[in-house]
Amino acid sequence: MKSRLPILAISLALLAGAALAAPPANNVDPAEVTWADHVAPILHANCVSCHRPGQTAPMSLLTYDETRPWAKSIRKVTSDRTMPPWFANPEHGEFVEDPSLTDAEIETLNRWVAAGAPAGDLAQAPEPPSFSSEWKLGPPDLVYTAPEYHVSDDIEDHYEWLQVDNPVDEERWIRAIEIHPGFVEGVHHQLTYLAPPDATLAGVQSRTGTLDLTFVGGWGPGVAPLQFADGHGMRMPPNSTLFFQMHYHKTPGPGTGGTDQTTMGLYFHDEKPENVVETLWLVDPTLNIPAGAADYHSWSSFTTEHEAVLFDFTPHMHLRGKAMTFTAEYPDGRKEVLLDVPNYDFNWQLTYTPTEPRVIPAGTTIRVDAKFDNSADNLANPDPTSNVTWGEATTDEMMVGFIHYTFSDQTQQTDMPTFIVPDALKQQIEQVREFRRKQREAAAAAAETGG
Ligand code: HEC
Repeated sequence: MKSRLPILAISLALLAGAALAAPPANNVDPAEVTWADHVAPILHANCVSCHRPGQTAPMSLLTYDETRPWAKSIRKVTSDRTMPPWFANPEHGEFVEDPSLTDAEIETLNRWVAAGAPAGDLAQAPEPPSFSSEWKLGPPDLVYTAPEYHVSDDIEDHYEWLQVDNPVDEERWIRAIEIHPGFVEGVHHQLTYLAPPDATLAGVQSRTGTLDLTFVGGWGPGVAPLQFADGHGMRMPPNSTLFFQMHYHKTPGPGTGGTDQTTMGLYFHDEKPENVVETLWLVDPTLNIPAGAADYHSWSSFTTEHEAVLFDFTPHMHLRGKAMTFTAEYPDGRKEVLLDVPNYDFNWQLTYTPTEPRVIPAGTTIRVDAKFDNSADNLANPDPTSNVTWGEATTDEMMVGFIHYTFSDQTQQTDMPTFIVPDALKQQIEQVREFRRKQREAAAAAAETGG
């Protein structure tokens, strides 16, 4: 965990001391904090991965001239921690690529703005980091290229499922995945799924087949390529059908459109790795959120019979999603919060990867608790007057805690079926299928009586 509290305590102590010592109301020496000396390094390290030309963020923060007009806005969004986007409660767990600013960094930005956002000696300012469009993980074994999709000028939010040609007809073991969005300004996120050979685009789009998919990994602004630990890999069954789910998001208007062609590099192991990584979906497909409910609770759990290693956690809900917590309930009764996301934001589909994979003893229950806000107070809520159930559309809901995991004892994996679904989940999935069948029947009956 980043030690945010001690730093806060220290900076408060400094402030208190300074207030006693310095007579002027504002004890900041304006010459002290400058872009060149203090601010550029913070922004280059934490912001410009998104805030540079051609990326998702609305403006570049690479240079002083580009940043200066945004100074007040930067103070606001960093102080309230909406930027950089990161939603894990720092009290639980430590995660790789955590971009959050420390309290000391936020304080530096505040002082810079209070001092009038001075440039300092620009000749001494650090060079902005360079970003290459090359594959970060080196040349992939196979590059997949999605079909082109034209994001028209009037699109603000749009989901598109794309089927991607998969030339691989034999079993492969995925070691790493790197995704390069084509029309970066317009791609909000991308999710990669494997499906059985007979899966069709029409099937996934029909909103009935999604639970037959295996989630592999995805891309969103600021998301690093997915790499499994040495000796670990994910199985790609022979003749898998490959789908990308694309979420396009941008400000609509003349000239804002573009053509997307997202590519994915796959890196394979030469042979079956010692440990097979699986994706667990902890879901609650029985979701039924009443209109106006501000604090609807939903949960799901899975008890592992074998010692398991958990690699990452990906909370997934839609616009009513409010909070999600992943908890381990150990056989000795102890409980530990593995990830707490107290303010979920659908706009950011982030994966949280613990700096050390979490080893969970046999008999541990992994539990996911989610909260939904279907009231008018939730500004993202498209319609507080409707009941909401499970579904693919953004206006439906989902409650999924994705976890990449493996069993420590690889003999537990020798006879793995293509798609591992824990029994507890199978029951739930049956419930959903049953629920959907009834919905379809009811819709058909209604259509018949309606004429
Ligand atoms: C992972 C990508 C990402 C990172 C990292 C990031 N931003 Fe942003 N930022 C965005 C996006 C995208 C938006 C537009 C938000 C929206 O449309 O809702 C934004 C919006 C903003 C805005 C508001 C712009 C406006 O229109 O009012 C400010 C200010 C800002 N970011 C500053 C920062 C600072 C400072 C950092 C680093 C400390 C940072 N951002 C890190 C992606 C990012």
